[in-house]
Amino acid sequence: MSLDLIPQPRSVSPQPGTFTVASATVIAATGDATGPAWLLHDALRAGSGMAVPVVPHSESAAITLRLTGDGHQDFPSTTAERYRLNVTEDAVTIEAPHPAGLVRAVQTIRQLLPADTLRAAPVLGRPIELPCVSIDDEPRFGWRGVMLDVARHFQPKEFLLRLIDLAALHQLNVVHLHLTDDQGWRLEVPGWPRLTEVGSWRSETVLGHANSGLGFDGTPHGGYYTAADLKEVVAYAAARYITVVPEIDLPGHVRSVLAAYPELGNTGSAHPVATTFGIFPEVLAPSDEALQFARDVFDVVTEIFDSPYVHIGGDECPRTEWLASPRAKARADELDLGSTDRLQSWFTASFADHLRSKGRRVIGWDEILEDGGAPADAVISVWREFATASKALAAGHDVIVAPQKAVYLDWYPSDQPDEPLHIHGHLPLETISEFDPAPADPADDETEHVRPLGDAAEGLGASRGRVFGVQAQLWTEYLPTPRQVEYAAFPRLAAVADMAWSGMNSRRDHPIADRLPGHLSRLGALGVNYRPLSGPHPWQQGGTGPRARFDSR
Ligand code: ACM
Repeated sequence: MSLDLIPQPRSVSPQPGTFTVASATVIAATGDATGPAWLLHDALRAGSGMAVPVVPHSESAAITLRLTGDGHQDFPSTTAERYRLNVTEDAVTIEAPHPAGLVRAVQTIRQLLPADTLRAAPVLGRPIELPCVSIDDEPRFGWRGVMLDVARHFQPKEFLLRLIDLAALHQLNVVHLHLTDDQGWRLEVPGWPRLTEVGSWRSETVLGHANSGLGFDGTPHGGYYTAADLKEVVAYAAARYITVVPEIDLPGHVRSVLAAYPELGNTGSAHPVATTFGIFPEVLAPSDEALQFARDVFDVVTEIFDSPYVHIGGDECPRTEWLASPRAKARADELDLGSTDRLQSWFTASFADHLRSKGRRVIGWDEILEDGGAPADAVISVWREFATASKALAAGHDVIVAPQKAVYLDWYPSDQPDEPLHIHGHLPLETISEFDPAPADPADDETEHVRPLGDAAEGLGASRGRVFGVQAQLWTEYLPTPRQVEYAAFPRLAAVADMAWSGMNSRRDHPIADRLPGHLSRLGALGVNYRPLSGPHPWQQGGTGPRARFDSR
């Protein structure tokens, strides 16, 4: 019998028979196992209508969650998320060294239950049954992420909670929020009120693709999260052992900042929040005021987010304004940088120092390696070329593998002409399901590896830095609403989750193509606007208007 689990567990032994989730069942858990037990309670209650009580101990307990370790967790680590799940006709037993592993097992149970139990209210008659099975599981990578861009198009808080729940179901453990960009600033910062008054909305948005020449929609767009909103999101994720990693993109991608505070820029001229997409020349001036601004923002960010890592962006920061600015050049001379181009490296080091003083490490997009490089403790999100991973690792940096050709879910999912508007590119499920994020990684005790992107990253594991894991990106220039984000994300994100959790041999022995049809019924029960394997439904297609497919490069 195929259980169609995604990701594929390390070891699965299906047994004959079923366990009946009867109304008399109780869940036994104590201490730090209690939180995961209540998650299971909530899942059963919603989908089956049965309120299975959580009790500390019971002779008759039919479902038991037990911690076998000291609960210590380094993040990212794979061992904290190990679990054993044993389902017999009489009992369900979950054991893990850390509550994170118990939560992963609960997600596996959510997948083992009939798909309709994922609904918000019961539609199935009783009894609800779980197939007997013995699972011994552990992820390949300790960082399994998905990034959502809430700057290009603001995404409602309810969708952040839903995405966290969907990430949890797929055993992901990082949700990275890209909170700021040229087109909008989404975070309230006391002392800098204009960031939200001015920077959180734009007057209108380009219609169709930025290069399609269709004009503008004439409609304001915006929104921002309060500190309480984001604390709620962080706590919701924490209950699922998911870390929310905040990104403040600096020193480029700051048109929304400069619209609010033009004095932080190089020219002092006011620029409105951007209404189209691309790379803009406007960047922060290398001034004390700009550094103070960044420190104030990071102080707020570290107060809200408990992530040990803070993403400082650093991508696509043109040097044009600095090279034209006598003040920027004077600053580079005063700092003895040897070149104005090195100002970004100086910014990165300053951000890293400040965040380190607060016990946090910086992550940056791979551009932070250029023109002077990044501090040794900076983690690199490798996005442009997979080969950069080898270079970053050789330089001693820890790395998050996020190459656009393998995990940018804002790329077109097929070459069909009826696909709705995406940014560009071609990233079908097959490319994702074949990609090995760390070829020849000794941590993966399997031997055969697939290298659809070439040999560039051969020998990653032999380097000084560590491959933390892998992360998918959902940039939202052309995914304005949650439904459009869901179309781009699913089912490709399920394949990314499989890539991040399962070893290459299990992925090859259990092709995701065989497991996806069963898994899609789970996404269907959850109301996810996924892309059918054969292509978009008519109402998901681009049609002939501004959402028509447009391939600009
Ligand atoms: C990026 O895609 N600009 C990181």
